[in-house]
Amino acid sequence: MIDPRTSVIEKRLSGIKKTIVVTGWKGGIGKSVTSCVGALLLAEMGKKVGLLDLDFAGASCHLILGAKEVFPKEEKGIIPPEVNGVRFVSISFFSGENAVPLRGSEVSNAIIELLAIVQWGNLDYLIVDMPPGISDTALDVLRLFTRAQVLALTTPSPVARDVLSRALRLYKSLKIPVIGIVENMADRKKKEVKFSIGFDKNIEQALASPGKLLKTRFASDLKKIVKCL
Ligand SMILES: Nc1ncnc2c1ncn2[C@@H]1O[C@H](COP(=O)(O)OP(=O)(O)O)[C@@H](O)[C@H]1O
Ligand SMILES: [Mg+2]
Repeated sequence: MIDPRTSVIEKRLSGIKKTIVVTGWKGGIGKSVTSCVGALLLAEMGKKVGLLDLDFAGASCHLILGAKEVFPKEEKGIIPPEVNGVRFVSISFFSGENAVPLRGSEVSNAIIELLAIVQWGNLDYLIVDMPPGISDTALDVLRLFTRAQVLALTTPSPVARDVLSRALRLYKSLKIPVIGIVENMADRKKKEVKFSIGFDKNIEQALASPGKLLKTRFASDLKKIVKCL
């Protein structure tokens, strides 16, 4: 069946130069913090940036950015509010403090609906914060954003690495480009991979404040990665 929203989505996304999907499959490895601080850094560098939080069950970018009270403007769809220069859209705009208990095709529908109504305008980068796992959300996003590239996250834990290696094999078979693999919470003394973000014990105190987040060691490590995107 032809879904008329698909062609609307194509039009809505047509002004976006690069879509970067931040994934990692495991939870708690820093996908959301990386997405938020990455978007803030790109905006600080003068880029036009959007941030889309698609973690239906665990939306957290609004908390990380301290943007609990921002809401989109409605005007032939919705116009994302700006947080420190980042055009921000989250499923939390619609769900408030409640988790969204969606399953199967409902998830696909919600993503399609969201992408069909958001007016991103022209963007150099759209950063997409993903839920853990290769859920329906992940597969839909990769299908709908035809030119998406993956920034894959892991931690020094062998468990996270093993899960990531399975993910990478899948992306390869689906022909989805992986632009980088980031080791987060790395031991600063032994840097093994090209892209790494050291463990930053001060990150928690900086949450909910974009200004503070940009001054963390986490941000200075991530800046080196963001410059390569
Ligand atoms: N490099 C780091 N150093 C210290 N704490 C970190 C680091 N990266 C992420 N965290 C913390 O880990 C927790 C999980 O991060 P989050 O971005 O929510 O993970 P995910 O989105 O992958 O579930 C948060 O409390 C975050 O502040
Ligand atoms: Mg998250």
